[in-house]
Amino acid sequence: MSRILVTGGSGFIGREVCRLAAERGHEVVSVARSGRPDFGNSWSDSKANPEWADRVEWVSASVFEPRRWREHLENCDGVVHSIGIIEDSPKEGVVLERLNGDAAILAGLEAERAGVPSFSFVSASRTPPGTREAYLTAKRRAERELIELDLSVARLRPGPVYGEGNPHFSGLTNRLFRELGERERVARRLGEIRPLPVEQVAAVALETALDPEREGMYDVPAISGARLIPVEAEP
Ligand SMILES: NC(=O)c1ccc[n+]([C@@H]2O[C@H](COP(=O)([O-])OP(=O)(O)OC[C@H]3O[C@@H](n4cnc5c(N)ncnc54)[C@H](OP(=O)(O)O)[C@@H]3O)[C@@H](O)[C@H]2O)c1
Repeated sequence: MSRILVTGGSGFIGREVCRLAAERGHEVVSVARSGRPDFGNSWSDSKANPEWADRVEWVSASVFEPRRWREHLENCDGVVHSIGIIEDSPKEGVVLERLNGDAAILAGLEAERAGVPSFSFVSASRTPPGTREAYLTAKRRAERELIELDLSVARLRPGPVYGEGNPHFSGLTNRLFRELGERERVARRLGEIRPLPVEQVAAVALETALDPEREGMYDVPAISGARLIPVEAEP
């Protein structure tokens, strides 16, 4: 069993990392302002209160207040950083440069200081349509800073990610991306814009965060083609 901390663990991708890690028997801590995500309130729906969520420690804190969450890095084997935004809210100080760049650098510095051996950064292949270019320049800046730190860093660069939960698209687009993503021959030709299932992105994020030897850059073909650890082979 390993111990993993997920920043943005309540989000679309981060939540899937938490689910996977908890179901594989790891100790999991999520750091996000909202704490435990709202899974819905219908008792008849098994997804409303999933059993795995009770095995995650949901820390309610902003990544920009490290004194509120750094103690949870103690004895961590890896960190997945899955915080990012596609729209600015300047009145709240929430801007692309800060959330997509500075947040990752800060989390990396805290992980280095705590002696965590490896860090997986959920970056991106490109700027989503309608989003300022700062989305990507901030992520690339963070990638450059992170690889200078004294810990192993995996940089994941997915394109659009689809799946259950709260994807960044409408239900229709989500279904279209699933259709495209699952047709291997078509999907492979899409290269960097190939839509990827959230389960695959989350699994690569988790496994690279727990294995310092898997540092490096993972573009869309590398994420989609990554061999994953069979669940029964997990330590
Ligand atoms: N979804 C995609 O299609 C896609 C594609 C390529 C790359 N990515 C990248 O993947 C990463 C995760 O994306 P996502 O789709 O999972 O986004 P998301 O659903 O919007 O999740 C973002 C997470 O970040 C947390 N967060 C935001 N501000 C924070 C703060 N100050 N301190 C702590 N936590 C904070 C949010 O929780 P709170 O608001 O509660 O704090 C949430 O848990 C992003 O960097 C994104 O750019 C996503």
